[in-house]
Amino acid sequence: MSRQHEVGTDRPSSLTVTIAAPADLAEAETVMRDVLRADLGGYRPQWHRDIDDLEAAYLRPPGCVLLVARDAAGVVGTAAVRPCVLASPPNPEWLAREYNRPDVCQLVRVWVAAGARRGGVGRALVGRAVAWSVGPGGYRRVYLHTDAGVPGAENFWRSLPTREVHDCRPDPFNTVHFEVDVEALLRAPGC
Ligand SMILES: CC(C)(COP(=O)(O)OP(=O)(O)OC[C@H]1O[C@@H](n2cnc3c(N)ncnc32)[C@H](O)[C@@H]1OP(=O)(O)O)[C@@H](O)C(=O)NCCC(=O)NCCS
Repeated sequence: MSRQHEVGTDRPSSLTVTIAAPADLAEAETVMRDVLRADLGGYRPQWHRDIDDLEAAYLRPPGCVLLVARDAAGVVGTAAVRPCVLASPPNPEWLAREYNRPDVCQLVRVWVAAGARRGGVGRALVGRAVAWSVGPGGYRRVYLHTDAGVPGAENFWRSLPTREVHDCRPDPFNTVHFEVDVEALLRAPGC
């Protein structure tokens, strides 16, 4: 698999989505920490330790990948894939049983820099992440959850071919769980 993928032509031609190499990690981490601080309530060690060592989290382990979106300004977004391992609690036991399987991955860290939003970067990242997941990643199904209290997050996932699996609200994190319709997503414009 080529390490670089040009994405759709409906976006600025300078936008690329690539599998992150060690040289991309410092910029990726900066974008991630900015989004965490500005949009997601800040770094919490119990959830965000992967960001402290992106190479160990996503470049070395099998079944993991980190993607970076770049435009002329540099890295403007990230997305990562890892095996699905849901803790229960807080997640319902049935949900963990359904998705904690070797053929299911979890889409995480779909984060776009504030200045680069609403231009299709998030959509392109998800498209590449799902293509990797069911291609080189060897998975069959793609799961994700989101904090629906973050402006735009729920709208974003519902704008893509996803199926709501469980809406936990009201819960402290406004969690909504989704499964990607893989076939439809790979055909979707901009993905
Ligand atoms: C959610 C996020 C990833 C979207 O990234 P993005 O690059 O702006 O997304 P796209 O431009 O590909 O948007 C695709 C579609 O999602 C929907 N969407 C995205 N942001 C939206 C918003 N703020 N309000 C309403 N709809 C939104 C729209 O339907 C949009 O299509 P359109 O622009 O043609 O109307 C970005 O806002 C972000 O990083 N937010 C903070 C972190 C986060 O919550 N991540 C997702 C949960 S893990």
